[in-house]
Amino acid sequence: MNDFPKDFLFGTATASYQIEGAVHEDGRCDSIWDTFSHTPGRVVDGDTGDIACDSYHRWRDDIKLLADLGVNSYRFSIAMPRVMPVENGPVNERGLDFYERVTDALLAEGIQPVVTLYHWDLPQYLGDKGGWLNRETAYRLGEYAGVVAARLGDRIHTYTTLNEPWCSSYLSYGATEHAPGLGLGPGAFPAVHHLNLAHGLMTQAVRAEVGERSECSVTCNLQLNRGDADAVHRLDLIANRVWLDPMLRGYYPDELFAITRGICDWSFIQDGDLEQIHQPIDVFGINYYNTGLLAMSDRPQFPQSTEASTAPGASDVDWLPTPGPHTEMGWNIDPDGLHDLLVRVHNDYPEIPLIVTENGMAVADTLETNPDGTKAVHDDLRIDYLRRHFEAAKRAMDEGVDLRGYFVWSLMDNFEWAFGYTKRFGIVYVDYETLERTPKDSYHWYRRLISDRRIPD
Ligand code: NOJ
Repeated sequence: MNDFPKDFLFGTATASYQIEGAVHEDGRCDSIWDTFSHTPGRVVDGDTGDIACDSYHRWRDDIKLLADLGVNSYRFSIAMPRVMPVENGPVNERGLDFYERVTDALLAEGIQPVVTLYHWDLPQYLGDKGGWLNRETAYRLGEYAGVVAARLGDRIHTYTTLNEPWCSSYLSYGATEHAPGLGLGPGAFPAVHHLNLAHGLMTQAVRAEVGERSECSVTCNLQLNRGDADAVHRLDLIANRVWLDPMLRGYYPDELFAITRGICDWSFIQDGDLEQIHQPIDVFGINYYNTGLLAMSDRPQFPQSTEASTAPGASDVDWLPTPGPHTEMGWNIDPDGLHDLLVRVHNDYPEIPLIVTENGMAVADTLETNPDGTKAVHDDLRIDYLRRHFEAAKRAMDEGVDLRGYFVWSLMDNFEWAFGYTKRFGIVYVDYETLERTPKDSYHWYRRLISDRRIPD
């Protein structure tokens, strides 16, 4: 008996700025993350993505790792700064060539490409004009999505418009943790809406090129919070329904307007926007790592902290310390949360199939040398984490959730945004001195899971 159906997508995930390096090659322009990471004090140890895992040059090795792992899909992102490096300028064919080579090499190994069109590396020239605070950005992203789909066409299994718009808005404009790190509190709401608009425009642009021959999707880091019911409800509006309802239903919930009264008038929503946003998509991606524990508070000010959980409109909500154990990120380990989240989204939006586009664990891994000179990483904690989360997903499927796939974050250790290279999420270890890759024990464990389509005992 297999735990997972034959066509279930087993994959791993990465993102361009986190793995590629080669930031000045083949015509790429700077992104807001190049600027941010080169600004002292923004990233731990002053780390940048200049070299990262050097996947721009080592992509063949990385695809070999995927092939040996036995995955039938790979989620990677395309960098707009490589494809459209000049404002209003011509498309950069060399940028597209790179992703075409990767796509064809994946297909040659029987691996379906699942592409993220926007994983946070916004061209700096758009950042200079206000980035996601500027409505124009949504239209530029729409054009870019069309350019990519025109070249790669239906060779891409799934086009995902955005990755974690929560981070691209609240964490980037509300707080200071992600690029551009403006700390505007409720000033982030225009970014929220413009990201929703970009999702709709990008989906339409992709459809115009590939019709129904590729799937269209979006990925959100939906939250599963516990604790005080009012606080949980507020965060559900701010963090979940703010994307789900416009994208899948064509409206913003009235309650969202109610709880943000006095801090945001939503006047940036223009006539017709919700029709643009509400496009048929084939699958909804969820990134899941941990849960929150909430209480109501009466803090009068908007927090401007670098807390990952900071969100404007939620200033009257406190995040309490979660019970352990915790990962190296300080995130609690709560596999039931994945089950509960999948069941909740399925119950409320039963028409849309779901996919886990990211799940994984940061561990303080150590590279060991075996007596025969080979290298190994014994990451039992990560195996245990993955096992329990796959089991939780399986339980949700048994209860009727239409879950189509599961992508482990990440194929390899990489640039973990504001944490630089200090947090390792990979199932392949990267030695940042030599850039050598070493599959960890979790890689071998996952290979067994995939080949048996059954969670190993
Ligand atoms: C969310 C993001 O999509 C990814 O870029 C990040 O590295 C992981 N989660 C881990 O934080």
